[in-house]
Order: sequence, then structure tokens, then C-alpha cells
Amino acid sequence: MASRRASERLIQTGNVEINGAVVTHPGARVDPDGDRVCVHGQPVRAVDRQTYVLLHKPPGYLVSARDPHHVRTIYQLLRGIDVRIFPVGRLDLDTRGVLLLMDDGDLAFRLTHPRYRVEKVYRAWMRGHPNAVALTALREGVKLGDGTSAPARVRVVRARDGNTELELVLHEGQKRQVKQMCAAVGHRVQCLTRTHFAGLTTRHLRLGQWRHLTQAEVKRLREQVGLV
Ligand code: URA
Repeated sequence: MASRRASERLIQTGNVEINGAVVTHPGARVDPDGDRVCVHGQPVRAVDRQTYVLLHKPPGYLVSARDPHHVRTIYQLLRGIDVRIFPVGRLDLDTRGVLLLMDDGDLAFRLTHPRYRVEKVYRAWMRGHPNAVALTALREGVKLGDGTSAPARVRVVRARDGNTELELVLHEGQKRQVKQMCAAVGHRVQCLTRTHFAGLTTRHLRLGQWRHLTQAEVKRLREQVGLV
């Protein structure tokens, strides 16, 4: 019902009761299922007890709970989260950028299902310059291991010194999709970043840092996939 800072002020000024007793210590713990919390005498309920996290994934961290080859996993970056949360889709070991994790299976399913047309934006760096035929093929669809890629928005961000940076906007997430698409037109991706997922970016997060989504962000995600 209020920001963290405003909530602390409410607590410190004696406006919050747990089971009928005023608490003034912001670290007081409550059991959302058993305790009765009142603010200004009115009961409040936990609106959202699920956990939604945005991680700025660095390269070199595996998106997996297990670590079969002794590489680092993203869970080593998520210290302080004491519930089990699952990645929404995957990023390759060497890919960096926006990775959402949550314990909300319905939302995660819809965010990754192509039917809901959630936008994922990637920046891919490669040697050489994809020509007009290659760019058209990337936009219209190229053959992948499991079928054909769906139409995508693709633009050249920079083409200089024999290298090209492409931006690709996709609504699906087949395995290693961007790398497969670029390979299909003769270019190996050297470096890949996911800059946006469903409108969320890594703004204000350094590589390896994470934050909880705000309630407004969760609401927007749910609206995007028709979960309202
Ligand atoms: N496409 C890829 O090829 N790799 C990723 O990590 C994400 C999208």
C-alpha cells in the first residue's frame, strides 16, 4: 500500500498494528497467512506474495539451477532471495542482458509463448556486413533447426570497420534463435545482448545486479498477456 520508505514512516509513527499491538520497528516480521496487520486501524492484505525479479545477466553464468560443468550459475547472483524462482525463457551462457525470474507459472508461460507476442529485443554483433538479401531473409523468416523463424523486425544499428551490429525484435524464443538466424544467413554472432524483454530493460542495474519488479511493472506484464 506504500513505498518501502513511506511504509517505514507509517511504522515509525505508530500507525501500524500487528495483531492489535502497535509496532514501531520496521523489521518486525509477519506471517501473511496468520497475522492481522492494520494501518490507521484498517486491515491490510498482502496484494502480491509472488516474487518477480529482473537480473542483468552477465556472460559466463549458466541459466540453470544445476551446474554440470562447474560453470557459474545465475543463482549465485541471486543471493538474498529465499524463494524458488524460475527463469522466464533462457539466455545462452555467453549472452548478457535482461532475464526475468519468477515463481508465477501462469505469467511465465504466457510471457514465453509466441501466441502472446511479447517483444524481445536483441543486439547482435558479427563480423562482415549482412547484405540486403540476408536482411530480408532475417525479416521474413529463415530455416532453423525446428522449422522457420517468424517474421521479425531487423535493423542495422552500426556497420563499420568490417563489423555489423544488428537489432532484432522477436516474438518467439526458439533455442539459440538469434545465433541460428544469423548463422542461416552466413554470419556468426560474436556477442549477444538482450536489451528488452516485454518492455523491461536493465536500466540502473550493473552487470550481475538484480532488483524486484515493482507492482506496476508486474501489472503491465500481466496486462500484456491478457492476465488481468
Ligand atoms: N538467441 C540466442 O541465440 N541466444 C540467446 O541467448 C538468446 C536468444
